Amino acid sequence: MRIGIIGMGNVGGALGRRWAAAGHQVVFGLRNPGDANSQDEAKALKAAVAAIPQAVAGAEVVVLAVPWPVALPTVTSLAGELKGKVLLDCTNPLTADLSGLVLGTTTSAGEEVAKAAPGARVVKIFNTTGSPNMAAAPYDGTPLTMLYAGDDAAAKQTAAGLARALGFDPVDAGPLLVARVLEPFGLAWITLAVRQKLGTDFHFQIVRKPAK
Ligand SMILES: NC(=O)c1ccc[n+]([C@@H]2O[C@H](COP(=O)([O-])OP(=O)(O)OC[C@H]3O[C@@H](n4cnc5c(N)ncnc54)[C@H](OP(=O)(O)O)[C@@H]3O)[C@@H](O)[C@H]2O)c1
Repeated sequence: MRIGIIGMGNVGGALGRRWAAAGHQVVFGLRNPGDANSQDEAKALKAAVAAIPQAVAGAEVVVLAVPWPVALPTVTSLAGELKGKVLLDCTNPLTADLSGLVLGTTTSAGEEVAKAAPGARVVKIFNTTGSPNMAAAPYDGTPLTMLYAGDDAAAKQTAAGLARALGFDPVDAGPLLVARVLEPFGLAWITLAVRQKLGTDFHFQIVRKPAK
C-alpha cells in the first residue's frame, strides 16, 4: 500500500518505520524535504521523503501525525488532495503543557479534521497509546488493543488492517464522533506516563473473559 505520512516525529516515524519494514511504500511528507538527516533516515528505513503535497498526492492512505496546533492549517492546505483518500488522524488536541485538551465533549480533533478536509475518509486511530507502543507492539506475542472510530466502513477496514500488521488488535469503537471519547483516552495515557511517572512501557488493553 502507498502510505503518505505527514510528520516524521515520534508517531509518524514509528509507524512509518514499521510499515516500511512490512513492505509498504512509505513516503514521509515534510515541510523541509531537502533536509539531509531526514533523507538519510528515510533511506535507512527503505522509505522516501517529499514535500507534503507530493507525499499526499501519491498516497492511498494518508497519516496525519503533526502537533495539534498545526493540524488544521496543514489539512486545510491539502483539502483538494485529500478528497477520497483514507486519512488516519493520530492527533490529540493537547494543551502545550500536556495537562488537558483544547477541545472536546461537543467536538473532537477527528471531527474538526474531517470538516477541514471534505470528502476525506477520516479514521481516528493511533492516538490512544504512546509512540513507544507503536514501535513495540505486540507485547510478547499479545496484540495490543487499538481503538478506532470513523464513518466510512471501507476506510475503517483499511485502518484496522494497517494496525493489525503492526501487532495491534484493532477494535471498532464506532462513528467518528467517538473521537470525543478516544482523545481524552489518549490524554489519560499521557497523564499516567508522565505525571504519574508510569513511564511508557504500559498499554490499555481490552481483556475478554474466557468462554466457558
Ligand atoms: N508522541 C506520542 O506518543 C503520541 C501518541 C499518540 C498521539 N500523538 C499525537 O500525534 C501527533 C504527533 O505527535 P508526535 O509526538 O509524533 O510529534 P513530534 O514528535 O513533535 O513530531 C511532529 C512532526 O510534525 C512535523 N511538523 C511540525 N510542525 C509542522 C508544520 N507546521 N507543518 C508540517 N509538519 C510539521 C514535525 O516536523 P519538523 O521535524 O519539521 O518539526 C514532526 O515531523 C500529535 O498530534 C500528538 O498529540 C502522539
